Amino acid sequence: MKNINYQELVDSEQALQKRSIFWDPVIYEEELKQIFNRCWLFLGHESQLPQTGDFIRTYMGEDDVIVVRGKDKVIRAFLNACTHRGNKVCQAEGGNTRSFTCSYHGWSYNTEGELAGVPLEKEIYDNLDRERFGLVPVARVESYKGLLFGCFSEDAPSLVEYLGDIAWYIDVVTDSAKGGLEVIGTPYRTEIPGNWKLPVENAIGDGYHVAWAHAGAMSVVGALGHGRSDNVLGISANNTNVDQSGAIEVVMNTHTVLTTLDGQSGYALYDHPEPVLAHLAENRPRVIEKLGELRGKQLYGSETHIGVFPNLQIIQGLNFIRIIHPKGPGKFEVWTYGMCEREMPEETKEVIHNHVRQTFGPAGLLEGDDGDFVEAISHSAAGYATRQMKGFLGMGMGRKVPWDGPGEASPGLVNEACQRGFYDQWRRSMEATNAHEIIGQTAPGVLREIRHG
Ligand code: FES
Ligand SMILES: [Fe+2]
Repeated sequence: MKNINYQELVDSEQALQKRSIFWDPVIYEEELKQIFNRCWLFLGHESQLPQTGDFIRTYMGEDDVIVVRGKDKVIRAFLNACTHRGNKVCQAEGGNTRSFTCSYHGWSYNTEGELAGVPLEKEIYDNLDRERFGLVPVARVESYKGLLFGCFSEDAPSLVEYLGDIAWYIDVVTDSAKGGLEVIGTPYRTEIPGNWKLPVENAIGDGYHVAWAHAGAMSVVGALGHGRSDNVLGISANNTNVDQSGAIEVVMNTHTVLTTLDGQSGYALYDHPEPVLAHLAENRPRVIEKLGELRGKQLYGSETHIGVFPNLQIIQGLNFIRIIHPKGPGKFEVWTYGMCEREMPEETKEVIHNHVRQTFGPAGLLEGDDGDFVEAISHSAAGYATRQMKGFLGMGMGRKVPWDGPGEASPGLVNEACQRGFYDQWRRSMEATNAHEIIGQTAPGVLREIRHG
């Protein structure tokens, strides 16, 4: 929209973000068009759809979408909207089917989206052109190593181009997994009254809040096991000191990564991490052979938060994939899928799944804390005067650290580099005139070093 000044809403020079971006319905409507209708959005994992006729339902922005494996084995996605009068043709969250039949007047569609049946067709229509009335397909569906994404934009760059350098980090999760990545079929869902951008920035880069906001939860998590809550991820539980050595926040084209680089602290919050640590040790030589020393030793097993713009987080260590679905400017749903390696011992998988439930399930110790903050930040922006305020993300600005992976690295877990990267990307997307302009640039000097080094 021409009269919105995005430079004023997100001021990168001063690291300020106007609070109206968390409340204004006009801005939200633009986000649906500029971001959710143009970016590649996570749909699910191929392991959820092994057989012909398997389907899941999800959202792309606020669009209800069916993802289904057809008789030809191809995975397609369609708007969950009947082409007759618009009723949802699928009410189930997932399952296996030969067709989707609308409950209003009974039109039915096959797994390839074609209109296959119309009650009383011969009696009530003269030559109904069924081909015109198939389900509306999502223009593009592509997979990156089993991770399925959809895009509404016909002329968007390919998924691989869109992911760009973040793929180098995603590979640590996908390629290290023994037997491939396995995702728990049905995600945990939590509805929270807040703006969708706040849980995203919280998960991809806010290391500052961990020891303070989660102090209570941390003491419980630590008390359950080995009392490690006195120092979690280099941050002391009483928030009196922080070890900034080692961990980095990395901003690259479009996406971000935060990682501890120590190869094991992803499991620092587990009450009984022993089976997982044993698995890491056993699997690590294979990962080093496949992905090299840097990724095998420093990234595999670390607490790593991969932020894929706009709303996907792949969190290694805590071991879940999380997607934030917007539901209006002041509400969102968090979907959390536990993930593990297919050939891990069952006992180890169970430890991981229990931990996901305990921390970030709907009743998770950490999920609840964060929900309160994003609700308060969003809803206080209902006040006109409060909405004129600007939030500040200036921590670590200008601090750089050498890093041999892609992207520009900034030191420490307590840093706001990833959050700044997210809002810069948000502004770029809101100002873009086509899907190609959404993709940002990684600092060129850094990339050259990696690719030819
Ligand atoms: S709305 Fe679906 S058959 Fe009429
Ligand atoms: Fe948190």
